[in-house]
Amino acid sequence: MAAEILSMKKIDKSFAGVHALKEVSFDLLEGEIHALVGENGAGKSTLMNVLTGIHPKDSGEIYYFGHLFNPRGPKHALELGIGIIHQELNMMDHLTVAQNIFIGREPVKAGGMLLDERKLNRITRELFDRLNMNIDPAETLGKLSVGRQQMVEIARAVSHDLRILILDEPTAALSNAEIRELFHIMRDLASRGVGLIHISHRLEEINEIADRVTVLRDGANAGTRHTKETTRDEIINMMVGRVIYEEPKQKSAVPPHADTVLSVRNLNAGKMVQDVSFELKRGEILGFAGLIGAGRTETARAIFGADKVLSGTIQIKGRPADIRTPEDAVRHGIGYLSEDRKRFGLALKMNVADNITVTTLEKFQQGPFIKSRKVQEETESYIRKLSIKTPSIYQLVRNLSGGNQQKVVIAKWLIRNCDILIFDEPTRGIDVGAKSEIYTLMNELTSQGKSIIMISSELPEILRMSDRVIVMCEGRVTGELPIEEATQENIITYATMRETGDTVYAEN
Ligand SMILES: Nc1ncnc2c1ncn2[C@@H]1O[C@H](COP(=O)(O)OP(=O)(O)OP(=O)(O)O)[C@@H](O)[C@H]1O
Ligand SMILES: [Mg+2]
Repeated sequence: MAAEILSMKKIDKSFAGVHALKEVSFDLLEGEIHALVGENGAGKSTLMNVLTGIHPKDSGEIYYFGHLFNPRGPKHALELGIGIIHQELNMMDHLTVAQNIFIGREPVKAGGMLLDERKLNRITRELFDRLNMNIDPAETLGKLSVGRQQMVEIARAVSHDLRILILDEPTAALSNAEIRELFHIMRDLASRGVGLIHISHRLEEINEIADRVTVLRDGANAGTRHTKETTRDEIINMMVGRVIYEEPKQKSAVPPHADTVLSVRNLNAGKMVQDVSFELKRGEILGFAGLIGAGRTETARAIFGADKVLSGTIQIKGRPADIRTPEDAVRHGIGYLSEDRKRFGLALKMNVADNITVTTLEKFQQGPFIKSRKVQEETESYIRKLSIKTPSIYQLVRNLSGGNQQKVVIAKWLIRNCDILIFDEPTRGIDVGAKSEIYTLMNELTSQGKSIIMISSELPEILRMSDRVIVMCEGRVTGELPIEEATQENIITYATMRETGDTVYAEN
């Protein structure tokens, strides 16, 4: 029996108006990978913030290696061997990879003033070698994909001598290959006695990587199970108190001769968008499948006017559209829910109502006045529709849980009434219950005649929601499939179809 390295007992924590943790107990064994799951807003991040001293607890005790432990802050926790990788990336884009990893503890040259860049890169490379990661230490961090940046953050945590490593949704932005890489590192750490706490909404991962799983529900511990002795259905039931019925997609409802609302021809916008052509029909969900880095987000950004288009045409409802900025796109009725919601979608210091309605103020104006009752009503209706968990519409968005922040971005675009909506990874970081609510909502939107482009790296989601599937690889459209013909296998074949010179081949 492995030794207990952490025991949190009856941890209680309230924020103004929110009882976030209700006498939660949680323990961790040496060498164990312990998954922590629960709906958006259940209290997962808060429990970990208490453990690392980011938030003081109101009551309860933490025992670390049998001793009472009162973390004074993340730095203190780290010094004692407890590291955390947060839900949001937490690094400096303009510094190099190596500088990010050793920030605050860089080696200096004799004399003590100059940074020893050579040595810094060398020790970083040694660290990567040990972790089997292939990243250039001298590269500027901002030039890496989000997935690679996440790996750098993991390397940074591991570069400390840790006894506990907390990973708050580390896989949300990783490609499948990167997830494999991460799991390998996690198992390696566990085999050396480190205890790992793994927060994830991807329930299928849990069985694969975790020894035990603890479910939080509404701030309380709903139970701990050995993963070998439980099922996905039991876990979901513990999370939400009911079984979530996943309806299969009904047959495509789009009439074959539906009007084309968006037509993109030979769009070029840099290396990641080459000669992209496709059509979107009225009332359709057009799935964009591909591996991470296939150019789907870049295509969306080019259509939305966020990146410069080099050549090609965009027609909306049969008329050429000159879109140079996101404002132009919005004027043409296009909405874009970006995959990086923090950076492009939200004003963290504003409240929920303002975030949802800020871009639609005209709708609520009467002469010089804002009809605040109307603002309130509409905001509340979206909070209900998307089950956004917030004590009131006046809560600061910064204080919502990660998943609930994402739902606020979705509400913000829905309220705008766009005819064409681009959803980029709409359910990333969203719990199972809210996921099916978002699917229902998408189906409602299309039945009202709106059209949706859905970029998703989750094939089950693509297959379940799309009427038609476009597949991209390395900046090009490599396949287009009616939903009746789409399968995981043929999508993967197209998604790995690289073009070299003039021969096109598919990877095994
Ligand atoms: N600083 C804060 N101020 C006020 N309320 C907060 C604060 N931090 C968290 N909360 C609230 O505490 C509750 C738990 O949030 P927490 O972030 O722990 O959820 P979570 O389980 O991590 O959810 P997700 O899966 O969405 O990340 C939520 O209702 C959230 O709004
Ligand atoms: Mg969280």
